[in-house]
Amino acid sequence: MTSIKDFGPEIATLRHMARPAQQRAKRTADPKAAWPRDFIWGVSTSSFQIEGATREDGRGQSIWDTFGAAGRVANHDTGDVACDHYHRYAEDVALMRELGVQAYRFSVAWPRLLPQGRGSANEAGLAFYDRLIDALLAAGIEPWLCLYHWDLPQALDDLGGWTTRDAAGWFADYAALVACRYGDRVKRFATFNEPSVFTLFGYGFGDSAPGASGPVMLRQAMHHVNLAHGAAVDVLRALVPKASIGAIHNYQPCLPATPADAQAAELFGAYWNSAFPDPQCLGAYPPRLADAFAPYVQPGDLARICRPTDWFGLNHYSPIYAKADPSAPLGFTFGPAPSDLTRTPIEWPIYPDAFRDTLLEVSARYRLPVYVLENGFGGHDTPDAAGKVADAPRIDFLKAYTDAMRRAIADGADVRGYFVWSLLDNFEWGSGYGVRFGLVYVDYPTQMRIPKASFRWYADLIKSARQKDGLKGTS
Ligand code: FCB
Repeated sequence: MTSIKDFGPEIATLRHMARPAQQRAKRTADPKAAWPRDFIWGVSTSSFQIEGATREDGRGQSIWDTFGAAGRVANHDTGDVACDHYHRYAEDVALMRELGVQAYRFSVAWPRLLPQGRGSANEAGLAFYDRLIDALLAAGIEPWLCLYHWDLPQALDDLGGWTTRDAAGWFADYAALVACRYGDRVKRFATFNEPSVFTLFGYGFGDSAPGASGPVMLRQAMHHVNLAHGAAVDVLRALVPKASIGAIHNYQPCLPATPADAQAAELFGAYWNSAFPDPQCLGAYPPRLADAFAPYVQPGDLARICRPTDWFGLNHYSPIYAKADPSAPLGFTFGPAPSDLTRTPIEWPIYPDAFRDTLLEVSARYRLPVYVLENGFGGHDTPDAAGKVADAPRIDFLKAYTDAMRRAIADGADVRGYFVWSLLDNFEWGSGYGVRFGLVYVDYPTQMRIPKASFRWYADLIKSARQKDGLKGTS
C-alpha cells in the first residue's frame, strides 16, 4: 500500500497553494471595464469527446477505446459515436459561426493520423483535419490545435506508453507530422491538455485510461510528458513559421478539507498545479517534488523541457479540497468542499474568486500571456416540452466567472482570451454522456444539436465585447 511517505523526503513549499482565496487581500476593480483590445473569445472541444467514427477511415485504437470497451466508463458508454463530429463537423463549424467566436480549440486524434502511433501516416485521417481547418478558416474562426487531449494510440501504450522515455521521441515525430501538414494554416499550437489530470488519473489514481496506478509509473509518465512537451515545442518552432505555442494546464487552489489535511493538500497541489508548469516555464520541478523526481531526471533534461513558449493555457473550474488517505494509491484524495459553498449539479464548487486569484497567480508566477482555454458548467440538462434548453444556472456560472476574470484583468493579470468548455455536450470521460457541459445540447439518439440559452447569452457577450473593441478580428 502506498502512502504519502512513499513520495520521499519532499520539502514543504508552495504554501500559497493552500491559502484560501478568501484570506487573500481584497482587490477592487471596475467590473464593467471594457475587455482588453484583441481579446479572443472561443470554445473548446477534444477529439475523443466529440468525433466518434473510432473505427472509420483507418483510425487506430486509442487507450480510451480500450478503457470504454472494458466497461470502465459510467453506463458502459464509449466514444464510438460521441457527437458524430467526424461527419457533422460542417454543422458544428456553422454553429460556431453563429455563436460569433473568433477561435476554436480542438485536438487532433493521434491514432487517426498514426494508427500505430508511429510509422505510416493515415491519409484519410490527415484529410479529416484538412477539411475541419479549411471550414474554420472559411468561417473566419482561428484554429487552435492541441496535439494531445488524452487519446494515446493503444499500440504505444502496449509499448509502455508515457512510462517509457521513448514516448518523448514518438510525440516529437507526431508533432512534426502535424506541423508539416497543417502549419501552413494553423499557427496556434498547444502541446498537451492538462498533463497533470491525465497522468494523475491514468497512472496515479488509476481511474482513467490506461488505468494504471502507482507512484513510480506516475512519476515516470509525468517526466516523460514533460520531455515530450519540450521536444514538441522545438519541432513546432522549427517547422512552423510564426507559430504561437503553449501548453494547457489545469490550475486551481488545492485546499485542505480539514486542518489535518494540510500536508496532503500541499502534496496534491504540487502534483496537480506545479509538476508541469514549473519545469516547463521555470526550469525546475517544484521543491516539494524534486527528490521524488530525481531518479528519472537525466542530465540536460530540464533544459530540454524548459523551452520558450508564447502563452500559458489555463483550464479552471473550481478549487480542489484535498484530504489525506493512506489507503489511496498516492496517499491523498479528494475531500469534501465546505458545505456553505454552492455547487454545480455534478458537485463542483462554484467559487469565482478562486478563479480571479488563480489568474493573478498564474500570470505573476509564469510571466506569460494567459489564455483561459477551458471554463464551464457541467449539469444534466434536458429540453423542455417546447424543445428548448433553459440552462439559467450555466449562464449564472459563466457570468460570475467572466466577471471574476474581468476583475483579475483590471488587477493586472495578463489574460488575452477565454474559451468556454464546451461547444457541445460530449463524452465526459469516466462519466460518459451523463454529464453535459455544452453550450449546445446534443440529442444523442438523433444527433440533433439544440443551442441552449447559454449559447445565446455567450453570443451576446461576445458581440457586445467585440463592439467595444471595434469588432476586431483575431490577432
Ligand atoms: C477538463 C478536460 C475536458 C473536460 C472538462 C470538463 O479536465 O480537459 O476534456 O472533460 O474537464
